[in-house]
This record gives sequence, structure tokens and C-alpha cells, in this order.
Amino acid sequence: MPALEDAIEKILFREAEILARLDELARRITAEYAGKELTILAVLNGGLVFAADLLRRVPLPLKLDCISVASYHGSTESSGRVTFDQVSTPDIDDRHVLIVDDILDTGRTLDAIRRKLNADARPLSVQICVLLRKIKTRPEPVEADYIAFDIADEFVVGYGLDYQEKYRNLPYVGVLRKDRI
Ligand code: IMP
Ligand code: MG
Repeated sequence: MPALEDAIEKILFREAEILARLDELARRITAEYAGKELTILAVLNGGLVFAADLLRRVPLPLKLDCISVASYHGSTESSGRVTFDQVSTPDIDDRHVLIVDDILDTGRTLDAIRRKLNADARPLSVQICVLLRKIKTRPEPVEADYIAFDIADEFVVGYGLDYQEKYRNLPYVGVLRKDRI
């Protein structure tokens, strides 16, 4: 069986660089939400690793909730359909919500989550934090409030991001070799 990293064309962000950037983001988040009722809403599965590292750098009495969505269904192109895996929305009434996800690509996932939260509950505010933002024109007018890194419009894996559910456990973010897609 080939090693996991054989499928990586180039590494974009190593673990140390990611964590240093998370320190900066966490400082901004801590300052913005000090004295407010904060819920971090991690988007599973891709946002899991990022959220875990980020929230441990935010020394506030926050709550953690998770939301499980799927939009890709195994290909490298967004399907355009976003499905929620659970029926109930976390209890976020009267709370400030920071959605934490892996990547802002087409924006469909984050747009659908934001709509659902505002339709099903009464959050005081909803902001978005992503590890990666792809530089491209998006069909949905979604912007992230906190972004760790901007990247080119390439398919990346690692640090939570997958291709067909693989590579999430790589400690870095890298571009997947085209012959593996
Ligand atoms: P959206 O197109 O912004 O809705 O992104 C939907 C989801 O597609 C993201 O949450 C990721 O899980 C996945 N995705 C988008 N681009 C990439 C990528 O380059 N690598 C791995 N997953 C991606
Ligand atoms: Mg995802």
C-alpha cells in the first residue's frame, strides 16, 4: 500500500505554519467575543481538525456544537446540493455563533448553514471562520469573517480536508496529485 503522502503534489502549509496562524486568529476571536455568549459551531467532518486546534487557543467560556453536512459526495467538484445529517439545529438562541469550517469554495455549504441557523433559531450574530478560502468567483455571496489562508483554486487535502474521505489525518495542507483524482 503506497504511503499517504505519495499522493501529495506539493505541501502548501505545514503544521507549524498553520498553528502560528491559528494563534493570530484566536487572538482576534478572543478580543471580539470577550464578554459575549459564544458558541463555536464546527462543521463536520472537514472542520473538525481546524476547530479542535482553534478553540483550544480561545480562553473564553465558550460552548462547542457541531453540525454535519455533506455537499460533495466524493468528487472534487461541488455538487451544488447541501444535505444536513441531523434534524435538530443546536440551541443557539441568544448566542453569538462562530461557524468554523475547512474551506470556502463555492460558498454553498456555508450559505446553506447560515440560512438554516437563522431560519431555525434566533442567534444574536453569525460569523464565519475558515481555514482556507479559494480565490475564485463564487455563485453564493458568502464572505468569511476570519480566514487563515487564501489559496488558488486547486484541490487540496489534509488537516481535516479529504478526497473520498481519505487524507484528513495529514498534519499539513497539500495539493492532491492530479493522477490520484
Ligand atoms: P463549498 O463549495 O464552498 O460549498 O464547499 C463544500 C465543501 O467542499 C467544503 O466544506 C469541503 O468539505 C469541500 N471542498 C471544497 N474544496 C475542497 C478542496 O479543495 N479539498 C477538499 N475538500 C474541498
Ligand atoms: Mg466539509
